[in-house]
Amino acid sequence: MASHPHSREPSAPAHAVYDPVCGMNLAGMGDLREKEHGGTSYYFCGDGCFERFEDEPERFLGVPLIKLRNISKRYVAGVVEAPVLRGLDLNIWEGDFVAVIGASGSGKSTLLNMLGLLDLPTSGDIFYKGKNIALLKEDERAAFRSTTFGFVFQQYNLIPWLTAYENALVPLIFAGRREQERELAGRFREVGLGERTHHRPFELSGGEQQRVALARALANDPSVILGDEPTGNLDSATGHLILEKLIGLNRERGKTLIIVTHDSSIAEQANEIITIQDGRTLRDHHIHKKRFTGA
Ligand SMILES: Nc1ncnc2c1ncn2[C@@H]1O[C@H](COP(=O)(O)OP(=O)(O)O)[C@@H](O)[C@H]1O
Ligand SMILES: [Mg+2]
Repeated sequence: MASHPHSREPSAPAHAVYDPVCGMNLAGMGDLREKEHGGTSYYFCGDGCFERFEDEPERFLGVPLIKLRNISKRYVAGVVEAPVLRGLDLNIWEGDFVAVIGASGSGKSTLLNMLGLLDLPTSGDIFYKGKNIALLKEDERAAFRSTTFGFVFQQYNLIPWLTAYENALVPLIFAGRREQERELAGRFREVGLGERTHHRPFELSGGEQQRVALARALANDPSVILGDEPTGNLDSATGHLILEKLIGLNRERGKTLIIVTHDSSIAEQANEIITIQDGRTLRDHHIHKKRFTGA
């Protein structure tokens, strides 16, 4: 991390310097906030990151759970197109609830897929607890992904010929953890679907199907839950119930929660709102201080 012990200039640093909280590259930006800590000056993209750092400097001088550095992602479909992500930098801290918002097509799903290692960037680095995951082999990455991340999508993506219970069993089989099966009933109770686990998806409502998807996401007891518009197909009352479950996993079980959403009422409950625009995060994100009580 770059430091500027003698700088008295609150304006833009000349070379790469990262906001220790959100991880943004602040080079070339004006109007930064500055804070001296332990003889070093740190710079922040806005009030939210500045205040979080003031509250818990040691936490934010530690190692982020996930760190994206200079991430670019370009999809090649016949002709070469403009990259979706362009030099994006982002830190995710353990136990946070982060909402990702942005216009349709701005790259929110692309970002979430990078965070969950479902896809790799065209260039740039992804660190998980300080370890560069690009150095993992394909099968190691798959094993790491299946035990670290739980995914919930707008589409429930259940296998139609399997029962609810069998659907949630699939990740345990893939991870070679069939012995964890005895935990599954507890997962179903946790998501509010203690009954009806022997029904097939077509016999379940949308809300029930999303609870099955959530039980499946929790099967391997992941530390990070990633939701891509998880309430997008549900009526607002049902969506609200699913959201409560997700937020409960964050607040009561300490799981890091990252949700892509169009719904401002969801984003309002997060303790950090990341906006994607022009392939990067916007600075000065909206941060709610009311949470982080620790796990
Ligand atoms: N697999 C893919 N192949 C080609 N283009 C893609 C692919 N996935 C996404 N894109 C394009 O990348 C852009 C960002 O997509 P996405 O991340 O899904 O945006 P969002 O989730 O914000 O709506 C869109 O223009 C989309 O069409
Ligand atoms: Mg999307």
